[in-house]
Amino acid sequence: MSQPRFLRLFQGSTHSLTALCKVCIMRFAQLLLKSGFVAGIPKQVERFSKFSPSPLSMKQFLDFGSANACEKTSFVFLRQELPVRLANIMKEIDFLPDKLLGTPSLKLLTSWYSQSLMELVDFLEKDPDDKNVLTNFTKTLVNIRNRHNNVVHTMAQGVVEFKEAFGVDPVTNQNVQYFLDRFYMSRISTRMLMNQHTLIFDGSVNPAHPKHIGSIDPSCDVVEVVKDAYETSKMLCEQYYLTSPDMQITELNSKNPGQPLHIVYVPSHLYHMLFELFKNAMRATVETHEMSPALPPIKVRVALGSEDLTIKMSDRGGGVPLRKIERLFSYMYSTAPSPVHVDNSRNAPLAGFGYGLPISRLYAKYFQGDLQLYSMEGFGTSAVIYLKALSSESVERLPVFNKSALRHYQSTTEADDWCMPSRDPKKLGKYERTQ
Ligand SMILES: Nc1ncnc2c1ncn2[C@@H]1O[C@H](COP(=O)(O)OP(=O)(O)O)[C@@H](O)[C@H]1O
Ligand SMILES: [Mg+2]
Repeated sequence: MSQPRFLRLFQGSTHSLTALCKVCIMRFAQLLLKSGFVAGIPKQVERFSKFSPSPLSMKQFLDFGSANACEKTSFVFLRQELPVRLANIMKEIDFLPDKLLGTPSLKLLTSWYSQSLMELVDFLEKDPDDKNVLTNFTKTLVNIRNRHNNVVHTMAQGVVEFKEAFGVDPVTNQNVQYFLDRFYMSRISTRMLMNQHTLIFDGSVNPAHPKHIGSIDPSCDVVEVVKDAYETSKMLCEQYYLTSPDMQITELNSKNPGQPLHIVYVPSHLYHMLFELFKNAMRATVETHEMSPALPPIKVRVALGSEDLTIKMSDRGGGVPLRKIERLFSYMYSTAPSPVHVDNSRNAPLAGFGYGLPISRLYAKYFQGDLQLYSMEGFGTSAVIYLKALSSESVERLPVFNKSALRHYQSTTEADDWCMPSRDPKKLGKYERTQ
């Protein structure tokens, strides 16, 4: 039986490589060979990975979209910066385990990166004063964005294939975790750049949000986004469980008491994080209180200080033991069953790739924030989102390929530098000795 759409929303849609995709890879490989592309790719990766990405601040993003916004300036910046960001992460892809790189999913995915890099490099020799060049550049960005739509699921599929074939060991898990956090962060950043350029310079104003600069709301009403994410999650929860917990929200503006909480932010990023947290909190609450007459509410507190805007979401969904918290953020040790095997599991419809938390944490970190979980097993969980209150401190956090990054991929299995508790404690107590 196929899954209803709302359940797929709860878990994120699953993606499997179809025969069609494999045909695509072959066709693309042939095309590359014909056009002499292949030889050029490693050269361009080497060339652009020598540069470090240039992180932009919220202020710079806003300036690009202000009244004197200049498409030409943005074009000249992006035709260099996008290849730099792509090439830096492509260097790291090379350090993944061969067996992971050899999966059909990873082959498809690396072909997308190569093609996009080459399409961007094509613009380096073009004249920025030519209107057609600018129009073609925008079209190319839209194509690249669409080509990369399925990157997260394709990569996740590759990890599942790899895990099923070769198992997981702690060193591989550590390397893959390190890589994927950087890889997905790089993707968030390149999509942000492409979105800004295409939204700002397509000549139209977003009628629903005329004050937005591309995807940025210079006056993002945090509580409104919280309510929005709650309502959507509540709707899904009710469709699946026929019930849902209420929300109690309190807000505190320490800067301007009584005033709404506004920050410069990307509402879609904030919504993404909150939606994931609400889905988790609702699922835990409903499943823990199946037998209770009433569901305990989800409590949300939003506070604005001089440095942080903090959102704390607390549920009484039974919590998670401390030992497992780190694993909830792991891509390889995801608690979710692989999508191939979901059919018979009771919880399956609500468990996707288990990427809700790790990807949400990346969105928070992208502009120098964070997302943390604090849990009391037997009671409930609090998830806390930290964002920068000041736009001057909201600067992109970007991975760079350098010697330090390289060292992470070269770590080998070494003995732990903390003693492992032995299963059979030495019998030193005086009562044990006499027994
Ligand atoms: N508020 C919570 N209370 C209890 N368990 C939670 C909570 N949030 C997350 N979890 C656990 O963490 C796992 C991973 O969550 P997530 O990354 O959102 O992936 P998914 O929801 O697809 O499994 C969940 O499957 C669940 O077991
Ligand atoms: Mg989830």
